[in-house]
Amino acid sequence: MSAQRQETVKRLAAPDIFARKGKAPIVCLTAYTAPMAELLDPHCDVLLVGDSVGMVVHGLPNTVGVTLEMMILHGQAVMRTARQAMVVVDMPFGSYEGAPEAAYANAARIMKETGAQAVKVESGPTVAATIDYMVKRGIPVMGHVGLRPQSVLVDGGFKAKGRSNEERNGILDEARATAAAGAFAIVVEGVAEGLAREITETIEVPTIGIGASAGCDGQILVTDDMLGLFDWTPKFVRRYADLRGEISRAVAGYADDVRNRRFPGPAEIYFAKAV
Ligand code: KIV
Repeated sequence: MSAQRQETVKRLAAPDIFARKGKAPIVCLTAYTAPMAELLDPHCDVLLVGDSVGMVVHGLPNTVGVTLEMMILHGQAVMRTARQAMVVVDMPFGSYEGAPEAAYANAARIMKETGAQAVKVESGPTVAATIDYMVKRGIPVMGHVGLRPQSVLVDGGFKAKGRSNEERNGILDEARATAAAGAFAIVVEGVAEGLAREITETIEVPTIGIGASAGCDGQILVTDDMLGLFDWTPKFVRRYADLRGEISRAVAGYADDVRNRRFPGPAEIYFAKAV
């Protein structure tokens, strides 16, 4: 048996996250790569392999072009270094909105090929029945209501939701249906403050907010946003670092050293053995 197989890995799982409702805030961040997952893991309860990987890592304009294969590849990378956080993998656009049987097959493929503990789906009006179908067959599912990035082409952009009474009630209904279908947690994205609080107080499963105020049971951010890797971030992001500036300074220093023959220096080269 390999050393890797002998090592005991005990990650948080869906029931642990579910049980946190009303107790301690749930800390979540996105992760797409092995080295980043290793850094985030000790501090987080949930690492989400979000389909935002399409925009953040692959430079796509939105998440619509993300494939099942991309999610599996990034899920495998994160699982190689996550040790205690629960790992949730997003189901990409087109992989779960049709027949529940097809959604189940795709979710099962994600779980088998990555080893992740759950999948996440954007909970549109027709998706509750699919969540129910998957949960009853052994797949822990995280829901996602409010701003649903996979619907950006229908919505005409990334716009905050729940500002009109009609939209508010629709989102509240979706959250209720998602919870009733058996989701163990629900991401609430880009909604007005009062709505996030109302959803959180109404349903029994934990809510995880992004751009949804402190009225949720936990919070998630896109890691690259909070580390300051982009020149622009949405209003709801707090930047905890300026890695964009750090990287620019580091690369400019390297380029300057190479151009001026200061790199590599004596400490950075191999010498022949004395004979
Ligand atoms: O894909 C993603 O990163 C997400 C989070 C923004 C919640 O769904």
